[in-house]
Amino acid sequence: MKKVAVIGAGTMGNGIAHVFAQTGFQVSLIDVSQEQLNKALATITKNLNRQIAKGTLTEEQKGTALKNIETHTSLAEGVKDVELVVEAATENVDLKLSIFKQIDENAPQGCILASNTSSISITKIAAVTSRPDLVIGMHFMNPVPVMKLVEIINGYATRPEVTTTIVELSKQLGKVPCVVNDYPGFIANRILMPMINEAIYSLYEGVAGVEEIDTVMKLGMAHPMGPLQLADFIGLDVCLSILNVLHDGFGNPKYAPCPLLVNMVTAKKLGAKSGEGFYAYTPGSKELVVSQRFR
Ligand SMILES: NC(=O)c1ccc[n+]([C@@H]2O[C@H](COP(=O)([O-])OP(=O)(O)OC[C@H]3O[C@@H](n4cnc5c(N)ncnc54)[C@H](O)[C@@H]3O)[C@@H](O)[C@H]2O)c1
Repeated sequence: MKKVAVIGAGTMGNGIAHVFAQTGFQVSLIDVSQEQLNKALATITKNLNRQIAKGTLTEEQKGTALKNIETHTSLAEGVKDVELVVEAATENVDLKLSIFKQIDENAPQGCILASNTSSISITKIAAVTSRPDLVIGMHFMNPVPVMKLVEIINGYATRPEVTTTIVELSKQLGKVPCVVNDYPGFIANRILMPMINEAIYSLYEGVAGVEEIDTVMKLGMAHPMGPLQLADFIGLDVCLSILNVLHDGFGNPKYAPCPLLVNMVTAKKLGAKSGEGFYAYTPGSKELVVSQRFR
């Protein structure tokens, strides 16, 4: 495999393009927004510079990585000569189904179609294409250049050779692949999101404050970040949408999102990206300050 396309140049797309380009693949990075593409190239350059400062990359390798990336606002143009597409566009079912129809119409025969979705069914995505056996989940973790795991999700129809190819490819990218089957939330979010939801319920019911909940999990369970801080980092809207996928998919009330989470998303308190969630965020400051609301 030599050439891949990455669709969506946001948080995940720029990281995925970065690791492929650094490993020597030609990358066609596609987004509907030219501004997002420009931002993604700036972020990749900043992150490559950080690797140089740490001594893990040379100037020459940085130059090669950047040369390996071309950008497109036309999906048809961007996928026409690639062997793999990794879709990392906004987490919205209808959008993903429409993108996969377009990829299927424009990517070469035999091209593998992967999605970085956090929770949408790979089987459902595969069903809108003419090649469900070549569709698979390739779930990278944020930040992609740093995090080792790739959760690989077999759809109902995924061909075993496709899984083997993606496992080997993930290793080539320096990642550790883990293969799971396609059920709501896969493994990562099926286990993580109920924990985050339970932490929010504990706050909502007044069992403990934000700092106490996060401290118990950090110091007691050796988690690098408490669940409320992690929820802010992921985005509370993203957490809510994944919990809704689990709730709808299993029909089990244990996955029902906490009303406090629903309220915070409705009030647009989405965590770090909106400046406030369980903590308050000041640009340029790394200090962790509990939001006024929960003090
Ligand atoms: N953020 C995370 O921590 C994380 C972790 C793992 C997986 N994911 C998954 O990765 C995917 C992307 O998430 P993100 O956080 O990078 O989102 P994001 O909002 O940062 O980026 C999404 C990008 O998709 C682009 N886009 C929207 N419609 C498009 C289209 N039709 N064609 C091309 N590009 C389009 C947007 O312009 C935007 O640049 C989602 O499926 C999400 O569930 C996210």
